[in-house]
Amino acid sequence: MQSVRVELGERSYDVVVGSGLLRDIGRQLSELTSFRRCALVVDQAIATTHGEAVRRALAASGFTVCEASFFASEENKNLHALEEICRTLLARDTARNTPLIALGGGITGDTAGFASAVYQRGTPFVQVPTTLLAMVDSSVGGKVAVNLDGSKNMIGAFHQPKRVLIDIDTLATLDSRELRCGLAECLKHGIIGDADLFSWTRERLPRLAALDPGSVQELVARNVAFKAAVVARDETEQGERALLNLGHTFGHAIEGCGGATRYKHGEAVAIGIAAATHFAVSRKLCAPEVLTEIESTFVAAGLPVRLELAATDSELIAEMYKDKKTKQQNLTLIVPRKIGECTMLRGVADAEVVRSWEYVRRADLTSNEG
Ligand SMILES: NC(=O)c1ccc[n+]([C@@H]2O[C@H](COP(=O)([O-])OP(=O)(O)OC[C@H]3O[C@@H](n4cnc5c(N)ncnc54)[C@H](O)[C@@H]3O)[C@@H](O)[C@H]2O)c1
Ligand SMILES: [Zn+2]
Repeated sequence: MQSVRVELGERSYDVVVGSGLLRDIGRQLSELTSFRRCALVVDQAIATTHGEAVRRALAASGFTVCEASFFASEENKNLHALEEICRTLLARDTARNTPLIALGGGITGDTAGFASAVYQRGTPFVQVPTTLLAMVDSSVGGKVAVNLDGSKNMIGAFHQPKRVLIDIDTLATLDSRELRCGLAECLKHGIIGDADLFSWTRERLPRLAALDPGSVQELVARNVAFKAAVVARDETEQGERALLNLGHTFGHAIEGCGGATRYKHGEAVAIGIAAATHFAVSRKLCAPEVLTEIESTFVAAGLPVRLELAATDSELIAEMYKDKKTKQQNLTLIVPRKIGECTMLRGVADAEVVRSWEYVRRADLTSNEG
Protein backbone atom coordinates (compact mmCIF):
# COMPACT_ATOMS: atom_id res chain seq x y z
CA MET A 1 0.00 0.00 0.00
CA GLN A 2 1.24 3.47 -0.90
CA SER A 3 -0.10 6.88 -0.10
CA VAL A 4 0.23 10.10 -2.09
CA ARG A 5 -0.69 13.39 -0.44
CA VAL A 6 -2.46 16.06 -2.49
CA GLU A 7 -1.28 19.28 -0.84
CA LEU A 8 -4.07 21.84 -0.93
CA GLY A 9 -3.87 23.50 2.46
CA GLU A 10 -6.98 22.73 4.50
CA ARG A 11 -8.38 20.76 1.54
CA SER A 12 -5.37 18.39 1.46
CA TYR A 13 -6.09 14.68 1.18
CA ASP A 14 -4.49 11.28 0.74
CA VAL A 15 -4.70 9.06 -2.30
CA VAL A 16 -4.20 5.51 -1.08
CA VAL A 17 -3.07 2.96 -3.67
CA GLY A 18 -2.84 -0.80 -3.15
CA SER A 19 -4.28 -4.28 -3.57
CA GLY A 20 -7.39 -5.47 -1.72
CA LEU A 21 -8.29 -1.97 -0.53
CA LEU A 22 -12.03 -2.33 -1.15
CA ARG A 23 -12.08 -4.63 1.86
CA ASP A 24 -10.50 -1.81 3.89
CA ILE A 25 -13.03 0.86 2.96
CA GLY A 26 -14.92 0.72 6.28
CA ARG A 27 -11.74 1.40 8.22
CA GLN A 28 -10.68 4.14 5.78
CA LEU A 29 -14.07 5.82 6.08
CA SER A 30 -13.96 5.55 9.87
CA GLU A 31 -10.80 7.67 9.76
CA LEU A 32 -12.78 10.44 8.06
CA THR A 33 -16.05 10.42 9.99
CA SER A 34 -17.44 9.40 13.34
CA PHE A 35 -20.88 8.85 11.77
CA ARG A 36 -22.03 5.39 10.85
CA ARG A 37 -23.94 6.42 7.74
CA CYS A 38 -22.70 6.92 4.22
CA ALA A 39 -24.00 7.25 0.68
CA LEU A 40 -22.73 5.07 -2.16
CA VAL A 41 -23.13 5.87 -5.84
CA VAL A 42 -22.13 2.80 -7.79
CA ASP A 43 -21.64 2.16 -11.49
CA GLN A 44 -24.29 -0.43 -12.43
CA ALA A 45 -21.72 -2.40 -14.42
CA ILE A 46 -19.83 -3.30 -11.25
CA ALA A 47 -22.68 -3.20 -8.72
CA THR A 48 -22.73 -6.95 -8.16
CA THR A 49 -18.95 -7.43 -8.22
CA HIS A 50 -16.92 -4.61 -6.67
CA GLY A 51 -20.14 -3.04 -5.35
CA GLU A 52 -20.81 -6.13 -3.29
CA ALA A 53 -17.29 -6.09 -1.85
CA VAL A 54 -17.76 -2.46 -0.78
CA ARG A 55 -21.22 -3.11 0.70
CA ARG A 56 -19.86 -6.01 2.76
CA ALA A 57 -16.86 -4.03 3.99
CA LEU A 58 -19.02 -1.06 4.98
CA ALA A 59 -21.53 -3.29 6.79
CA ALA A 60 -18.68 -5.03 8.63
CA SER A 61 -17.58 -1.63 9.97
CA GLY A 62 -21.14 -0.85 11.05
CA PHE A 63 -22.09 1.58 8.28
CA THR A 64 -25.68 2.01 7.11
CA VAL A 65 -25.54 2.69 3.37
CA CYS A 66 -27.84 4.80 1.22
CA GLU A 67 -27.16 3.46 -2.25
CA ALA A 68 -27.87 4.93 -5.67
CA SER A 69 -26.91 2.99 -8.77
CA PHE A 70 -25.95 4.80 -11.92
CA PHE A 71 -25.64 3.71 -15.55
CA ALA A 72 -22.25 5.10 -16.63
CA SER A 73 -22.37 6.60 -20.12
CA GLU A 74 -21.58 10.07 -21.51
CA GLU A 75 -25.29 10.42 -22.45
CA ASN A 76 -26.30 9.67 -18.88
CA LYS A 77 -23.69 12.01 -17.36
CA ASN A 78 -26.32 14.74 -17.18
CA LEU A 79 -28.43 16.93 -14.92
CA HIS A 80 -31.16 14.31 -14.80
CA ALA A 81 -28.77 11.71 -13.34
CA LEU A 82 -27.52 14.32 -10.88
CA GLU A 83 -31.12 15.01 -9.81
CA GLU A 84 -31.83 11.30 -9.42
CA ILE A 85 -28.84 10.86 -7.12
CA CYS A 86 -29.87 13.87 -5.03
CA ARG A 87 -33.47 12.54 -4.87
CA THR A 88 -32.23 9.20 -3.58
CA LEU A 89 -30.18 10.97 -0.91
CA LEU A 90 -33.13 13.14 0.13
CA ALA A 91 -35.58 10.21 0.20
CA ARG A 92 -33.30 8.53 2.73
CA ASP A 93 -32.98 11.72 4.82
CA THR A 94 -29.28 11.90 4.07
CA ALA A 95 -27.73 14.65 6.15
CA ARG A 96 -25.12 17.12 4.96
CA ASN A 97 -22.25 15.56 6.90
CA THR A 98 -22.86 12.10 5.37
CA PRO A 99 -19.87 11.02 3.25
CA LEU A 100 -20.67 10.15 -0.35
CA ILE A 101 -18.60 7.43 -2.00
CA ALA A 102 -18.32 7.22 -5.79
CA LEU A 103 -17.47 3.69 -6.95
CA GLY A 104 -16.77 3.42 -10.66
CA GLY A 105 -14.96 5.05 -13.55
CA GLY A 106 -14.59 8.72 -14.38
CA ILE A 107 -18.19 9.13 -15.48
CA THR A 108 -19.46 7.88 -12.13
CA GLY A 109 -16.86 9.90 -10.20
CA ASP A 110 -17.64 13.13 -12.07
CA THR A 111 -21.43 12.76 -11.73
CA ALA A 112 -21.50 11.51 -8.13
CA GLY A 113 -18.82 14.07 -7.22
CA PHE A 114 -20.98 16.87 -8.58
CA ALA A 115 -23.93 15.54 -6.58
CA SER A 116 -21.67 15.57 -3.52
CA ALA A 117 -20.64 19.17 -4.33
CA VAL A 118 -24.20 20.49 -4.56
CA TYR A 119 -26.34 18.28 -2.30
CA GLN A 120 -27.07 20.54 0.66
CA ARG A 121 -24.25 22.79 -0.62
CA GLY A 122 -21.67 20.06 -0.27
CA THR A 123 -21.03 16.74 1.46
CA PRO A 124 -17.74 14.95 2.23
CA PHE A 125 -16.70 13.09 -0.92
CA VAL A 126 -14.70 9.87 -1.28
CA GLN A 127 -13.52 8.63 -4.67
CA VAL A 128 -13.09 4.91 -5.29
CA PRO A 129 -12.03 4.81 -8.95
CA THR A 130 -12.23 1.50 -10.80
CA THR A 131 -10.85 2.34 -14.26
CA LEU A 132 -7.20 3.14 -14.92
CA LEU A 133 -8.24 6.51 -16.36
CA ALA A 134 -10.18 7.38 -13.23
CA MET A 135 -7.31 6.19 -10.98
CA VAL A 136 -4.60 8.28 -12.63
CA ASP A 137 -6.63 11.23 -13.81
CA SER A 138 -10.26 12.00 -12.99
CA SER A 139 -10.34 10.98 -9.32
CA VAL A 140 -7.53 13.37 -8.39
CA GLY A 141 -7.90 17.12 -8.53
CA GLY A 142 -11.49 17.85 -7.56
CA LYS A 143 -13.03 18.61 -10.95
CA VAL A 144 -16.60 17.29 -10.98
CA ALA A 145 -19.17 17.90 -13.70
CA VAL A 146 -21.97 16.69 -15.94
CA ASN A 147 -22.56 17.28 -19.65
CA LEU A 148 -25.17 19.66 -21.06
CA ASP A 149 -26.75 19.29 -24.51
CA GLY A 150 -23.81 17.31 -25.81
CA SER A 151 -21.19 19.74 -24.46
CA LYS A 152 -18.83 17.92 -22.13
CA ASN A 153 -18.50 18.92 -18.49
CA MET A 154 -20.42 22.18 -19.01
CA ILE A 155 -21.99 22.25 -15.54
CA GLY A 156 -19.62 21.50 -12.72
CA ALA A 157 -17.59 22.55 -9.73
CA PHE A 158 -14.31 22.12 -7.95
CA HIS A 159 -15.02 19.76 -5.07
CA GLN A 160 -11.96 18.04 -3.65
CA PRO A 161 -12.47 14.57 -2.19
CA LYS A 162 -11.59 13.84 1.43
CA ARG A 163 -9.81 10.69 0.29
CA VAL A 164 -9.19 8.67 -2.85
CA LEU A 165 -9.06 4.92 -2.36
CA ILE A 166 -7.53 3.04 -5.27
CA ASP A 167 -7.80 -0.74 -5.26
CA ILE A 168 -5.76 -1.84 -8.28
CA ASP A 169 -7.39 -5.31 -8.09
CA THR A 170 -10.57 -3.77 -9.56
CA LEU A 171 -8.75 -3.48 -12.89
CA ALA A 172 -8.96 -7.27 -13.28
CA THR A 173 -12.54 -6.94 -14.59
CA LEU A 174 -11.85 -3.92 -16.80
CA ASP A 175 -11.92 -4.30 -20.58
CA SER A 176 -8.36 -4.22 -21.99
CA ARG A 177 -9.33 -1.40 -24.37
CA GLU A 178 -10.36 0.72 -21.36
CA LEU A 179 -7.02 -0.11 -19.74
CA ARG A 180 -5.18 1.14 -22.83
CA CYS A 181 -7.19 4.37 -22.66
CA GLY A 182 -5.88 4.91 -19.14
CA LEU A 183 -2.36 4.25 -20.42
CA ALA A 184 -2.83 7.06 -22.95
CA GLU A 185 -3.34 9.52 -20.07
CA CYS A 186 -0.29 8.09 -18.24
CA LEU A 187 1.90 8.54 -21.33
CA LYS A 188 0.43 12.04 -21.63
CA HIS A 189 1.68 12.82 -18.11
CA GLY A 190 5.16 11.65 -19.08
CA ILE A 191 5.21 13.82 -22.20
CA ILE A 192 3.99 16.86 -20.26
CA GLY A 193 6.51 16.74 -17.48
CA ASP A 194 8.24 13.48 -16.61
CA ALA A 195 10.50 11.93 -19.24
CA ASP A 196 11.54 9.17 -16.84
CA LEU A 197 7.91 8.19 -16.25
CA PHE A 198 7.40 8.06 -20.02
CA SER A 199 10.33 5.70 -20.65
CA TRP A 200 9.54 3.63 -17.54
CA THR A 201 5.96 3.15 -18.81
CA ARG A 202 7.13 2.31 -22.30
CA GLU A 203 9.48 -0.37 -20.98
CA ARG A 204 6.80 -1.91 -18.82
CA LEU A 205 3.95 -1.96 -21.35
CA PRO A 206 3.82 -5.78 -21.54
CA ARG A 207 3.81 -6.13 -17.73
CA LEU A 208 1.18 -3.42 -17.41
CA ALA A 209 -1.03 -5.06 -20.04
CA ALA A 210 -0.72 -8.32 -18.05
CA LEU A 211 -1.72 -6.40 -14.88
CA ASP A 212 1.46 -7.29 -13.01
CA PRO A 213 0.48 -5.92 -9.55
CA GLY A 214 3.83 -4.30 -8.69
CA SER A 215 4.03 -2.52 -12.05
CA VAL A 216 0.39 -1.39 -11.96
CA GLN A 217 0.70 -0.05 -8.40
CA GLU A 218 3.85 1.87 -9.30
CA LEU A 219 2.23 3.21 -12.49
CA VAL A 220 -0.83 4.44 -10.60
CA ALA A 221 1.14 5.91 -7.70
CA ARG A 222 3.59 7.75 -10.00
CA ASN A 223 0.81 9.18 -12.14
CA VAL A 224 -1.25 10.22 -9.13
CA ALA A 225 1.85 11.94 -7.72
CA PHE A 226 2.40 13.70 -11.03
CA LYS A 227 -1.17 14.95 -11.25
CA ALA A 228 -1.27 15.81 -7.54
CA ALA A 229 1.79 18.03 -7.92
CA VAL A 230 0.27 19.90 -10.86
CA VAL A 231 -3.05 20.33 -9.02
CA ALA A 232 -1.27 21.49 -5.85
CA ARG A 233 0.47 24.23 -7.83
CA ASP A 234 -2.65 25.28 -9.79
CA GLU A 235 -5.87 23.93 -8.25
CA THR A 236 -8.35 25.89 -10.40
CA GLU A 237 -6.50 25.82 -13.73
CA GLN A 238 -5.29 29.38 -13.93
CA GLY A 239 -2.09 28.25 -15.62
CA GLU A 240 -0.02 25.07 -15.40
CA ARG A 241 -2.98 22.70 -14.92
CA ALA A 242 -4.06 23.55 -18.48
CA LEU A 243 -1.00 21.58 -19.70
CA LEU A 244 -2.90 18.43 -18.70
CA ASN A 245 -5.07 19.14 -21.75
CA LEU A 246 -2.27 18.03 -24.08
CA GLY A 247 -3.94 16.27 -27.03
CA HIS A 248 -7.40 17.11 -25.74
CA THR A 249 -8.30 20.05 -28.03
CA PHE A 250 -7.70 17.75 -31.00
CA GLY A 251 -9.14 14.76 -29.13
CA HIS A 252 -12.37 16.49 -28.12
CA ALA A 253 -12.84 17.64 -31.72
CA ILE A 254 -12.56 14.01 -32.87
CA GLU A 255 -15.11 12.96 -30.26
CA GLY A 256 -17.42 15.88 -31.10
CA CYS A 257 -17.36 15.23 -34.86
CA GLY A 258 -18.81 11.74 -34.64
CA GLY A 259 -15.58 10.04 -33.62
CA ALA A 260 -16.91 9.05 -30.21
CA THR A 261 -18.56 5.95 -31.67
CA ARG A 262 -15.33 4.80 -33.27
CA TYR A 263 -12.80 6.01 -30.68
CA LYS A 264 -12.80 5.90 -26.92
CA HIS A 265 -11.60 9.03 -25.13
CA GLY A 266 -8.03 7.80 -24.54
CA GLU A 267 -7.77 6.76 -28.19
CA ALA A 268 -8.94 10.18 -29.39
CA VAL A 269 -6.37 11.73 -27.03
CA ALA A 270 -3.59 9.52 -28.44
CA ILE A 271 -4.39 10.74 -31.97
CA GLY A 272 -4.69 14.26 -30.56
CA ILE A 273 -1.22 14.06 -29.01
CA ALA A 274 0.20 12.88 -32.36
CA ALA A 275 -1.48 15.88 -34.03
CA ALA A 276 -0.25 18.33 -31.37
CA THR A 277 3.29 16.94 -31.66
CA HIS A 278 3.15 17.23 -35.44
CA PHE A 279 2.12 20.85 -34.93
CA ALA A 280 5.16 21.45 -32.71
CA VAL A 281 7.47 19.78 -35.24
CA SER A 282 6.10 21.91 -38.08
CA ARG A 283 6.75 25.04 -35.98
CA LYS A 284 10.27 23.71 -35.28
CA LEU A 285 9.57 23.76 -31.56
CA CYS A 286 10.24 20.06 -31.30
CA ALA A 287 12.54 17.55 -33.05
CA PRO A 288 10.93 15.12 -35.54
CA GLU A 289 12.39 12.22 -33.53
CA VAL A 290 10.09 13.13 -30.64
CA LEU A 291 7.06 12.61 -32.89
CA THR A 292 8.44 9.23 -33.96
CA GLU A 293 9.06 8.18 -30.36
CA ILE A 294 5.63 9.28 -29.15
CA GLU A 295 3.85 7.55 -32.02
CA SER A 296 5.79 4.30 -31.70
CA THR A 297 5.11 4.23 -27.96
CA PHE A 298 1.38 4.75 -28.42
CA VAL A 299 1.34 2.05 -31.09
CA ALA A 300 3.21 -0.29 -28.74
CA ALA A 301 0.55 0.44 -26.11
CA GLY A 302 -2.17 -0.58 -28.59
CA LEU A 303 -3.37 2.98 -29.14
CA PRO A 304 -4.16 4.62 -32.49
CA VAL A 305 -2.19 7.59 -33.83
CA ARG A 306 -3.99 7.90 -37.16
CA LEU A 307 -7.48 9.27 -37.70
CA GLU A 308 -10.15 7.55 -39.75
CA LEU A 309 -13.18 9.78 -39.69
CA ALA A 310 -15.59 11.13 -42.29
CA ALA A 311 -15.57 14.66 -40.78
CA THR A 312 -13.90 17.39 -42.85
CA ASP A 313 -10.97 19.47 -41.56
CA SER A 314 -13.22 22.53 -41.30
CA GLU A 315 -15.76 20.59 -39.22
CA LEU A 316 -12.96 19.44 -36.92
CA ILE A 317 -11.64 22.98 -36.58
CA ALA A 318 -15.11 24.37 -35.86
CA GLU A 319 -15.38 21.75 -33.11
CA MET A 320 -12.02 22.84 -31.66
CA TYR A 321 -13.43 26.35 -31.22
CA LYS A 322 -16.30 24.87 -29.21
CA ASP A 323 -13.87 23.44 -26.68
CA LYS A 324 -14.55 25.47 -23.58
CA LYS A 325 -10.83 25.92 -22.96
CA THR A 326 -10.68 28.02 -26.13
CA LYS A 327 -11.14 31.63 -25.18
CA GLN A 328 -13.34 33.40 -27.75
CA GLN A 329 -11.86 33.37 -31.26
CA ASN A 330 -8.39 32.24 -30.28
CA LEU A 331 -7.27 28.64 -30.65
CA THR A 332 -4.94 27.57 -27.87
CA LEU A 333 -2.87 24.43 -28.16
CA ILE A 334 -0.66 22.56 -25.74
CA VAL A 335 2.29 21.10 -27.61
CA PRO A 336 5.40 19.14 -26.61
CA ARG A 337 8.88 20.66 -26.89
CA LYS A 338 10.40 17.32 -25.99
CA ILE A 339 9.38 14.34 -23.92
CA GLY A 340 8.97 15.80 -20.44
CA GLU A 341 8.27 19.39 -21.48
CA CYS A 342 5.24 21.07 -23.01
CA THR A 343 4.24 24.60 -23.81
CA MET A 344 1.02 26.50 -24.48
CA LEU A 345 0.59 28.26 -27.82
CA ARG A 346 -2.07 30.93 -28.05
CA GLY A 347 -3.72 32.30 -31.16
CA VAL A 348 -2.68 29.59 -33.60
CA ALA A 349 -3.92 29.93 -37.18
CA ASP A 350 -6.54 27.56 -38.57
CA ALA A 351 -4.43 26.89 -41.68
CA GLU A 352 -1.59 25.57 -39.53
CA VAL A 353 -3.95 23.35 -37.56
CA VAL A 354 -5.35 21.94 -40.82
CA ARG A 355 -1.86 20.67 -41.69
CA SER A 356 -1.76 18.66 -38.45
CA TRP A 357 -5.22 17.22 -39.10
CA GLU A 358 -4.03 16.23 -42.58
CA TYR A 359 -0.95 14.66 -41.04
CA VAL A 360 -2.89 12.37 -38.69
CA ARG A 361 -5.13 11.32 -41.57
CA ARG A 362 -2.18 9.94 -43.51
CA ALA A 363 -2.19 6.19 -43.78
CA ASP A 364 1.56 5.63 -43.22
CA LEU A 365 2.73 5.27 -39.66
CA THR A 366 6.36 6.15 -40.03
CA SER A 367 6.28 9.51 -41.77
CA ASN A 368 7.10 12.39 -39.49
CA GLU A 369 8.06 15.27 -41.72
CA GLY A 370 6.52 18.59 -40.80
N1 LIG B 1 -12.68 15.15 -13.38
C1 LIG B 1 -11.59 15.11 -14.11
O1 LIG B 1 -10.58 15.75 -13.80
C2 LIG B 1 -11.57 14.23 -15.31
C3 LIG B 1 -10.36 13.92 -15.94
C4 LIG B 1 -10.38 13.04 -17.00
C5 LIG B 1 -11.58 12.49 -17.44
N2 LIG B 1 -12.74 12.82 -16.82
C6 LIG B 1 -14.02 12.23 -17.22
O2 LIG B 1 -13.94 10.83 -17.02
C7 LIG B 1 -14.86 10.21 -17.90
C8 LIG B 1 -14.23 8.97 -18.48
O3 LIG B 1 -13.90 8.08 -17.43
P1 LIG B 1 -13.71 6.52 -17.69
O4 LIG B 1 -12.84 6.33 -18.86
O5 LIG B 1 -13.32 5.91 -16.41
O6 LIG B 1 -15.15 6.07 -18.19
P2 LIG B 1 -16.35 5.26 -17.52
O7 LIG B 1 -16.67 5.73 -16.18
O8 LIG B 1 -17.44 5.25 -18.53
O9 LIG B 1 -15.77 3.76 -17.44
C9 LIG B 1 -15.50 3.07 -18.64
C10 LIG B 1 -16.33 1.78 -18.74
O10 LIG B 1 -15.81 0.84 -17.82
C11 LIG B 1 -16.85 0.33 -16.96
N3 LIG B 1 -16.18 0.01 -15.70
C12 LIG B 1 -15.72 0.86 -14.75
N4 LIG B 1 -14.97 0.21 -13.86
C13 LIG B 1 -14.95 -1.08 -14.23
C14 LIG B 1 -14.32 -2.25 -13.70
N5 LIG B 1 -13.49 -2.21 -12.65
N6 LIG B 1 -14.56 -3.41 -14.32
C15 LIG B 1 -15.35 -3.47 -15.43
N7 LIG B 1 -15.93 -2.41 -15.98
C16 LIG B 1 -15.73 -1.22 -15.39
C17 LIG B 1 -17.88 1.40 -16.96
O11 LIG B 1 -19.16 0.90 -16.67
C18 LIG B 1 -17.79 1.93 -18.39
O12 LIG B 1 -18.52 1.11 -19.26
C19 LIG B 1 -15.26 11.23 -18.93
O13 LIG B 1 -16.60 11.62 -18.74
C20 LIG B 1 -14.33 12.40 -18.67
O14 LIG B 1 -14.94 13.66 -18.94
C21 LIG B 1 -12.75 13.67 -15.76
ZN1 LIG C 1 -8.48 12.81 -20.97
